[in-house]
Amino acid sequence: MQQSEIKKRIGERAAMLVESGMTIGLGTGTTATAFIQSLAERNKLKNLNITCVATSVESERLALSLGLCCVSIDSVAEIDATFDGADEVDEKRRLIKGAGGALLREKILATASDKLVVMVDEQKLVKHLGKAKLPVEVIPFGHRFTMANLIALGFTKIELRQNSDGSTFVTDNHNFIYDIYYNQLFAEPEKENEKICKIPGVVETGFFFDFTGPIVVGRADGSVVLM
Ligand code: 5RP
Repeated sequence: MQQSEIKKRIGERAAMLVESGMTIGLGTGTTATAFIQSLAERNKLKNLNITCVATSVESERLALSLGLCCVSIDSVAEIDATFDGADEVDEKRRLIKGAGGALLREKILATASDKLVVMVDEQKLVKHLGKAKLPVEVIPFGHRFTMANLIALGFTKIELRQNSDGSTFVTDNHNFIYDIYYNQLFAEPEKENEKICKIPGVVETGFFFDFTGPIVVGRADGSVVLM
């Protein structure tokens, strides 16, 4: 089955978890996009009276264009669940996220939410994290020195993220992203995360730990399971 069809099914299944009156965090990326589309359809059919907070300008634009009610994170008292994709999920439900560049807002929303519903296809389930690139959001000021400090930690292959036209990718928070290609498995991701976060200029990493909520997994045969 095609990836786009698998993502559509994941989005449809995840949207069924949304109940009337909820405040929902909208993730970023292709799977989150499929979810937003399904959620908008379900909302039209069932008039769910939901309020959404988006993790990116892009997801907010999409949600608004589909008729979903989006508000600023500062105007909600709580978020029932955030629905988001991931780049890797390990056996301890730890994640690497941020290939779409929205990791900081995604982590703020995930942390503010009662639950993080992770939506992935089965290829993203791994034993240990490390095959996917690890994005690190950094402030632009002195970012070359920030990169030097990342290299000093032993991460030798690091790239400043660029747009397809060669310009530097800038996040919704006006920051840059360094992608770490570790090319080995992280034995202790929490420890690596701690070391990276101690570097001045680092705003956030793409490691996500300790989140509760179901993982909606799409399989190549078209089935979708909750883990
Ligand atoms: C964006 C993300 C995405 O959720 C993650 O990269 C997965 O994206 P996709 O669903 O397109 O594979 O973390 O910052």
